[in-house]
Amino acid sequence: MAYSWFKAFHIVGIVVWFAGLFYLVRLFIYHVEANQEPEPARTILKNQYQIMEKRLYNIITTPGMLVTVAMAIGLLTTEPDVLKEGWLHVKLGFVVLLLGYHHYCKRLMKQLAQDTCKWNSQQLRALNEAPTVMLVVIVLLAVFKNNLPTDITAWGIVAMIIAMVATIQLYARKRRKDKEKLTTEMVQQQSS
Ligand code: HEM
Repeated sequence: MAYSWFKAFHIVGIVVWFAGLFYLVRLFIYHVEANQEPEPARTILKNQYQIMEKRLYNIITTPGMLVTVAMAIGLLTTEPDVLKEGWLHVKLGFVVLLLGYHHYCKRLMKQLAQDTCKWNSQQLRALNEAPTVMLVVIVLLAVFKNNLPTDITAWGIVAMIIAMVATIQLYARKRRKDKEKLTTEMVQQQSS
């Protein structure tokens, strides 16, 4: 019974952790893009994003990570035999990468606060894809363990997910292009 409780709250922790990780880097993107705004909007926006990032990191993201890890330790102490399994070793490798990403986000947050961040918004958008990949790999490992299915249903699901991701990316790119076009037109109108 304890094992199921640990597993349930392990999953709750994961949801909270990832909600924080995804939104944090999205805020970094808005924070960097605020540099394009004229004053005083620029300073107001940057200060506001800084507060939001700090709260999100301290109140949601890090506690989510701590609950996930604490519940994982609970799972391992209740069923120590699972430590011998290959899938868990691979999963732990990805968890270490994820913890590194979490820590790197804190560094970026500090750099943004000090105005020393070198990343542009396009690069941050690409960085924000990293936790998605880690999430998918870790969940697949946790669910299928050493028996990842490779039948037609599995490939169908993979194809569907790839199509969904590609559609979202194309839509986001189109919206960015439209926005850039609109801004250029407005600048041209103002100068003529
Ligand atoms: C902190 C290191 C972690 C350890 C030591 C760990 C360990 C475990 C263990 C032992 C289980 C139970 C497996 C079972 O009974 O079938 C489990 C379940 C699970 N873990 Fe983790 N985990 C960790 C981090 C994560 C992370 C970061 C994620 C997601 C990104 C994750 C996703 C899951 C999921 C979805 C399950 C439920 C699998 C199922 O019931 O089929 N774990 N984890």
